[in-house]
Amino acid sequence: MKIITVTTQAFSDQRPGTSGLRKKVKQFQAPHYLENFVQSIFDTQTELKGGTLVLGGDGRYYNRQAIQVILRMAAANGVARVMVGQGGLLSTPAASCIIRKYKTNGGIILSASHNPGGPDADFGIKFNTPNGGPAAENVTEAIFACTRKISEYQTIACGEIDLDTIGARPLGETRVDIIDPVADYAALMEHLFDFRRIKQMFDSGLLRMRFDAMHAITGPYAKHILEDTLGAEPGTVINGDPKEDFGGGHPDPNLVHAHEVVALSMGHNAVDFAAASDGDGDRSMILGRNIFVTPSDSLAVMAANAHHIKGYANGISGVARSMPTSQAVDRVAAALGVDCYETPTGWKFFGNLLDAKRITLCGEESFGTGSDHVREKDGLWAVLFWLNLLAVRKQPVAKIVQQHWQRFGRNFYTRYDYEGIDTGAANDLMTHLQMQLAGLPGTTLDGYKVDYADNFAYTDPVDGSISENQGIRIGFTDGSRIVYRLSGTGTKGATLRVYLEAFEPDPKKQRRETATVMQPLVEIATALAEIVSRTGRKEPTVIT
Ligand code: G1P
Ligand code: ZN
Repeated sequence: MKIITVTTQAFSDQRPGTSGLRKKVKQFQAPHYLENFVQSIFDTQTELKGGTLVLGGDGRYYNRQAIQVILRMAAANGVARVMVGQGGLLSTPAASCIIRKYKTNGGIILSASHNPGGPDADFGIKFNTPNGGPAAENVTEAIFACTRKISEYQTIACGEIDLDTIGARPLGETRVDIIDPVADYAALMEHLFDFRRIKQMFDSGLLRMRFDAMHAITGPYAKHILEDTLGAEPGTVINGDPKEDFGGGHPDPNLVHAHEVVALSMGHNAVDFAAASDGDGDRSMILGRNIFVTPSDSLAVMAANAHHIKGYANGISGVARSMPTSQAVDRVAAALGVDCYETPTGWKFFGNLLDAKRITLCGEESFGTGSDHVREKDGLWAVLFWLNLLAVRKQPVAKIVQQHWQRFGRNFYTRYDYEGIDTGAANDLMTHLQMQLAGLPGTTLDGYKVDYADNFAYTDPVDGSISENQGIRIGFTDGSRIVYRLSGTGTKGATLRVYLEAFEPDPKKQRRETATVMQPLVEIATALAEIVSRTGRKEPTVIT
């Protein structure tokens, strides 16, 4: 096998964001763009030479082509073995599971998560370390530094590699294993959850559910687990065939983009339980009959009920949430007497806490929850957790959630996204907020007294690394909060996220409409940041 060294020129814009390098497909198709980034992974992650790499993606447009490129480069860079999901497919949590289970040297995951797919849409690539989790900042920064000075990369000349036939075959000196993308993940789920009990619930017709795979990666996983193994009725999984462009949709499981399944959970003929997952299978939206469970609440309910679930029956060591996530889980942790950590946005910050066994469960308001079973958030895992809980408690979702609020209080929650705004204006807006911080504590904004105002910085308790400038927090004395952040995953302009939370301890007031409860905070947040005049937007693009 002849190794070909290709001369290239560095790109200046390959710094990984919240979750890997995300760009338009067209950018990835530019000559050497993908190759430079991949070579920078091989150059910095030296244990891959002679080691094992896991490779797969969410099946979006350009997935197959990218897998071909990476396989050839892996062979040229001396990777001993590459485990590739059949068809080039692996959900993000399944990739994490496989990286860990086979004690590999890491994985490359191709995905732009919940961003749309297609020739004019988004693509992404990220490296996960041997613990199965997204590379920590020191690793992504090393890869980035490499992309800044790269001048050549290695590949081999070979024909199209068969990605569809399960089995092992050589590629030069490298062994390529095409593996079943579902089997290992399904086995892990069966280990964590009481499949027999969930099956009984479905068999006895006690629960009707719908799962919206949004034409993305979880289709095959959900059909195998929910319908074929657990006996949910055929048709339980909707939009279950993965498509390169996600059927033209936006594979983001929230109330706006997953409206089809939301509609099935509302009204007279509503199903008892509904859920959706995103492009790469790590996000989840949980719905009961006529109730939407916010991701922050879902995490809190899971923590409070973990003892009911087989895989967590021995108790949880601690919990963590990203900073903008509501403080609902903090209250559960306090009641259980376990630690609760507040981390910056992005799953990578949970990795050290999970590895150090300081936490068992963690989550983000952005429709992500997970546990120590892998090192990514996990959409279907969350769905199975809820199914297991419903099978044990034999109560409707709404009842479980309302009882939770009665016990712990309710954290009303909403997020406003202003997408695709001018980058300069977005940065100026954040600076303007930053300049006000020192003067805010002790003042009163529309009747809300400011308790603290800061720009969130995080010191990792395990390795001591410091991450600064992680979002502006304004906390009020009644427990409510406003948080501002600029997105690190967008591919066009800037996205301003405004996260709002209000605490209601009184059960009599917990059934009010979220929008009504949040209105005063929305007004404060909009005025304080001068959102309308600075961004030119009267309304957010998405409210979740
Ligand atoms: C968004 C979410 C964040 C999540 C990330 C990857 O990042 O807000 O919680 O970890 O996607 O799924 P953002 O665009 O806000 O940087
Ligand atoms: Zn995702």
